[in-house]
Amino acid sequence: MAARWEARADLIVVGTGVAGLTAALHARELGLRVLVVTKAAGDDGNTRWAQGGVAVVMEDQHDAGDSVARHIEDTLTAGAGLCDAEAVSAIITDGPAAVARLRERGAVFDARPDGLLERTREGGHSAFRVVHAGGDATGAEVERALLKATVDGRVPLLENHVAVDAVKTPLGAVCGLLVLDGNGVPGVLSAPAVLLATGGLGQMYQATSNPSVATGDGLALALRAGALAADVEFIQFHPTVLYTGRGARGRCPLVTEAVRGEGAVLVDATGARVMKGVHPLEDLAPRDVVAAAITRHMASEPGGVDDHVFLDATSLHDMASRFPTVYAACVSVGIDPAVDPIPVAPAAHFACGGVVSSVDGRTGVTGLYAVGEVARTGLHGANRLASNSLLEGLVCGTRAAEAIAADQALGLVIPARTPDVSLPTAPVADRDLLQRVMSRYAAIGRDAEGLAVVGSVLDVSTVDKQLESRELVEDAALTMAARALIAAAQQRTESRGCHVRTDYTSRSEAWQRSQLVRLTPTGQP
Ligand code: SIN
Repeated sequence: MAARWEARADLIVVGTGVAGLTAALHARELGLRVLVVTKAAGDDGNTRWAQGGVAVVMEDQHDAGDSVARHIEDTLTAGAGLCDAEAVSAIITDGPAAVARLRERGAVFDARPDGLLERTREGGHSAFRVVHAGGDATGAEVERALLKATVDGRVPLLENHVAVDAVKTPLGAVCGLLVLDGNGVPGVLSAPAVLLATGGLGQMYQATSNPSVATGDGLALALRAGALAADVEFIQFHPTVLYTGRGARGRCPLVTEAVRGEGAVLVDATGARVMKGVHPLEDLAPRDVVAAAITRHMASEPGGVDDHVFLDATSLHDMASRFPTVYAACVSVGIDPAVDPIPVAPAAHFACGGVVSSVDGRTGVTGLYAVGEVARTGLHGANRLASNSLLEGLVCGTRAAEAIAADQALGLVIPARTPDVSLPTAPVADRDLLQRVMSRYAAIGRDAEGLAVVGSVLDVSTVDKQLESRELVEDAALTMAARALIAAAQQRTESRGCHVRTDYTSRSEAWQRSQLVRLTPTGQP
């Protein structure tokens, strides 16, 4: 089916989370005509579910002994040897200015009576440096403020429009986006710059902290456009989502790490501490370490209950006011965290890798930019440090807007006449089957045999389909992303960060490098 309508702008931003909206607002300030597009409602993305906060070291913390250098060090340590040190330094150094800009845009953070921001601590952080809003509703406040600024600033926002494919010039530059409108009618958004800010892919697994929109759309679109991806084997599992019963599916309520940061501890059914003796930081070890330890404990210890452990937060005095989101989720399933240990389990949470991009959002494809969770800047390496993701979105969103404005001012990107385009076909696997095999064989604890099973299942079960609906676009994206992940996970014969191989249990010096992945449009390596 050929495109039936067209709109034009200088920049198309795909996604309305922290990274996309920050970029859109700044690009508009720089004089670009911006069009923001999202497949759902403006606030339907991952950002609004973020709890813990934004990791950032401001000047007032220097007296307390914290520093940007320590934040950089913690990020590199969590990243298990695969971070790009330059990207880490650039993003973390820009953090205080990014948070100040966000506050100017209207976001309200929790503050002490003296006006300084409150800080909490999460896994892998050597200091209390995570600023937060609404107790544990930081993402909701960030999303509210940015969306309001977008609407107030009259930045055009197309909701319920799903991005299908990049439109390219004969020379291979991206010059627009093929989208389906709310009625499923294909159209083209033409622009010399397309910025992917589409978030992650937690829906590749049965249980995830991510909402239903997190289906890897941007990663798949970029791979089809010829971009490179890296570090895609590193899927971070959050150690603690609320366990609501065997076979819990879809988005599971997060129990922020900040609950552990403020004193809660992981225990098993006998009350034994899960993290005792596992890591010097115990319950505040980096997230990969905690998630893997819980997984081992569930499988092998007498007090493990097969598919969950417990978070004992009974020592916290003000759970309802300090962590209102977590508290409400617990109460909704009949748990009172003041007296009951909270049943928790790991669930898919964050893609540490993604589309290879500079900290300014540039990918290897002219006209195509990426920012936020869909991008792989090198900030996260093999395991993201808690609360560095909102930070990355804020910093890189701003930087990407500046890079795009600079590229257009220099005439580096020449808008072309939009070529005739029609809906592509792509391999599509059954989502339920894909989620089941990914959860069984490509979650925490992978081996060659299991990864091969996923590869074979994808080979035999995918069918080429025309991407004529949002569901098909999402299923094709999950299929493409799963193929990229499996290819990379099969290659990486070691355990590092979030990539835990039960057949290669130690870290290998030879693997202290990121793997680049390029797939054909049909998902073949
Ligand atoms: C959390 O609050 O535990 C999650 C924060 C994050 O993923 O950075």
